[in-house]
Amino acid sequence: MLQAEAVSLSYGSKCILREINFSIRDIVRPGLQQGQVVSLIGRSGIGKTQLFRVLSGLQKPSSGRIAIRERRPAETGKGVIEVWQERTVEPGDMGVIFQNYYQFGWRTVRQSLLLAAKQNKALAGIEEEAIREYAGRFDIADTMHHYPAQLSGGQQQRVSIIQQLLKGADFLLLDEPFSGLDICVLDKVTELLLQVSLSDELKTLIIVSHDIPTAVAISDTVFILGREAGKEGSTIVREIDLMERGLAWRQDVRQDKVFSETLAEIKTCL
Ligand SMILES: Nc1ncnc2c1ncn2[C@@H]1O[C@H](COP(=O)(O)OP(=O)(O)OP(=O)(O)O)[C@@H](O)[C@H]1O
Ligand SMILES: [Mg+2]
Repeated sequence: MLQAEAVSLSYGSKCILREINFSIRDIVRPGLQQGQVVSLIGRSGIGKTQLFRVLSGLQKPSSGRIAIRERRPAETGKGVIEVWQERTVEPGDMGVIFQNYYQFGWRTVRQSLLLAAKQNKALAGIEEEAIREYAGRFDIADTMHHYPAQLSGGQQQRVSIIQQLLKGADFLLLDEPFSGLDICVLDKVTELLLQVSLSDELKTLIIVSHDIPTAVAISDTVFILGREAGKEGSTIVREIDLMERGLAWRQDVRQDKVFSETLAEIKTCL
């Protein structure tokens, strides 16, 4: 569905990212449809936000590319059918949720959400309905006529997430969605992101974070961004399949011994 192909990024002579290769495949569970949650983790300053920018298409890599596969209507002799097409990522392909949840200060929540919904052809004519549904589900129905300055950090974050969901992108990219949240809000956000992936089978969530326990608890796959001895720049040093370890899609995962062992293993790679 998404592939990083030998992505490197340098600023002048300073190499930040080196030869990054990974792919996000579509996981299919028997009898169940759901989206995927992938985390890119690594210590502070390692290059996560830079990789986030490359993935979003907002930053061109110095070499290599991010390829995405998407469903596209195609004309055939028998009418229009959906086919998979591969191409290089462009700005706007992904729903991007920045760390500071930037919102336009002069628009109310409702106005911002309506603007997002209008960008999604699938919602033509039912924008208001879709907004009401998400606002209820994510508990911001009371804030529809508020301006961003009148919202709490957690509310702003939920508005940002709904905005991107309304736009209808298949990929949601989140930079540090767990930072600066108190423990109660953190639980709520984790639950909400899980809800998004569970309720919409076609969404892929890519989370960039240094909060390793939370990232591991919510993901089905983890990629570790780190350094290799004697080499400049950061690269993917390990991929961990949490599904294989029985750690994916579970609420009680933190109590599992394998969960603590996995965290210990990750620490040795950072
Ligand atoms: N425009 C730039 N020119 C040169 N170096 C840069 C530029 N932007 C970022 N860097 C460097 O890239 C490296 C990676 O930064 P990045 O913001 O991606 O780290 P991070 O892993 O997201 O850290 P954190 O967990 O603290 O958010 C840092 O060493 C930073 O100084
Ligand atoms: Mg960062």
